[in-house]
Amino acid sequence: MITITTIAELDSAINETKKNNKSIGLVPTMGALHEGHLSLVNRARKENDVVVVSVFVNPIQFNNKEDLEKYPRTLEKDLAMLEAAGTDIAFTPSVEEMYPEPVTTVYHFGAIEQVMEGPRRPGHFSGVAVVVRRLFELTKPDRSYFGEKDFQQIAVIRELLRQMNSNIEMVPCPIVRANDGLALSSRNMRLSPEARNIAPAIYATLMQAVEMSQYEDVDDLKLWVLDTLASFHEVNSLPEGLRFEPEYFEIVDDTTLQPIDNWDEASGSVGCIAVWLDGVRLIDMVRFRG
Ligand code: PAJ
Repeated sequence: MITITTIAELDSAINETKKNNKSIGLVPTMGALHEGHLSLVNRARKENDVVVVSVFVNPIQFNNKEDLEKYPRTLEKDLAMLEAAGTDIAFTPSVEEMYPEPVTTVYHFGAIEQVMEGPRRPGHFSGVAVVVRRLFELTKPDRSYFGEKDFQQIAVIRELLRQMNSNIEMVPCPIVRANDGLALSSRNMRLSPEARNIAPAIYATLMQAVEMSQYEDVDDLKLWVLDTLASFHEVNSLPEGLRFEPEYFEIVDDTTLQPIDNWDEASGSVGCIAVWLDGVRLIDMVRFRG
């Protein structure tokens, strides 16, 4: 594995790869890597000659300064994990290298960014699009790999590729979970042991909702999920500090991301949730139909 920090070095490594007619798979990350990220790297490894993984905490996609400051940075460990997973090129630029000038570009994605994460994190998806587009241009991948944990991000990248008229293939990859069901996330390490202990209730509730979707209306089910989590501490006699505070739970069409009212409205539907626990914002999703 070679670790590259400058665009000039990356350019020559990519040119060399292209000259040899080798295919390139790109996995964009913000580091603090775990098995979820590695599942993307493994998939890229199987499908491409050369695997490029970027590790860059992208400041312009954080709409909350504290979240950016608290974002875990574990570069040395990340590089060891990437090397062990068979990465060819780790690209770890500084902020100055990626953004020599202030970013003024703003992307719009229409209806797909007007739901769920979009209104709650103003500017987030535009910031994601700016960095991902730059990574696409720099690494010229044949394929790029994204996790379904960030389901709306996948829809945004798909739309970005359409807007760019690009033929880069976007490969969505399933969520990797801890043994107890909690979706792996770099933010999980900020949970207290007590909060970490109850956090699997999020996925357990979603799984139960999938069962109930056989006979329950969309709207009733949405309310049930929100209520179940919001009352979890009460039902289980837990202290206030171990309270789940759901921010949203939406059941949406898996391509348009628009909320549905009836199960037969969309051929594919997923449930996406954001929940606060112990000062940490956790997201998860499950598939209902399709
Ligand atoms: P980050 O949160 O580091 O995630 C990098 C990639 O790993 C994303 O595609 C994400 O969906 C995927 N991922 C995270 N946890 C996962 C899990 N438990 N199972 C499967 N995949 C998982 O997402 C970002 O970074 C950034 O927005 C980025 C795309 C890099 C742009 O800055």
